[in-house]
Amino acid sequence: MSNDGVNAGRRRFLVAATSVVGAAGAVGAAVPFVGSWFPSAKAKAAGAPVRVNISKIEPGQQMVAEWRGQPVFIVRRTEEILANLEKVAAQVADPESKSSDQPAYVDPKNRSIKPELLVLVGLCTHLGCAPSFRPEVAAADLGADWMGGYFCPCHGSKYDMAGRVFKAQPAPLNLPVPPHSYETDNVIIIGVDQENA
Ligand code: FES
Repeated sequence: MSNDGVNAGRRRFLVAATSVVGAAGAVGAAVPFVGSWFPSAKAKAAGAPVRVNISKIEPGQQMVAEWRGQPVFIVRRTEEILANLEKVAAQVADPESKSSDQPAYVDPKNRSIKPELLVLVGLCTHLGCAPSFRPEVAAADLGADWMGGYFCPCHGSKYDMAGRVFKAQPAPLNLPVPPHSYETDNVIIIGVDQENA
């Protein structure tokens, strides 16, 4: 009887140990083996800030970076896109992001440090799918009043071009804005807060 307990515990340990070896093996080709003896350094690297060159993002387009294993959407918004945010303000659930996750130094309405550059964690606040970027106004499948934004393919949540969720969607909150700052006009650091916040 007690052996069962011991064996079950040992099985769990073996599974855990195998997982760790597997993870170390995955990076073994590129990293000297000794590197795998320092998991805290690896963990630190996984959460380290990410420097992103945004110079190639065309107006109205998005690039996707990665930070802490999550997609980060970076959009260069046009004057038209910014003007459309006002038009949908009455239709979004939390227009000034009072309940949503964003740093205090970000504008509450357009949700960015510089209005033309939007930075969002690209995970739906319902169950974590990656929403699709749908910037086209009046997209045939999203309706004549669609002003551009994000559409989650999993359960249909819609967000505007500031990542603000529309009312009565499965998703309860706006897409989070991660901590970020500008190193230069063309380089954003995701994971480091803007100074003088
Ligand atoms: S995960 Fe996006 S709507 Fe459900």
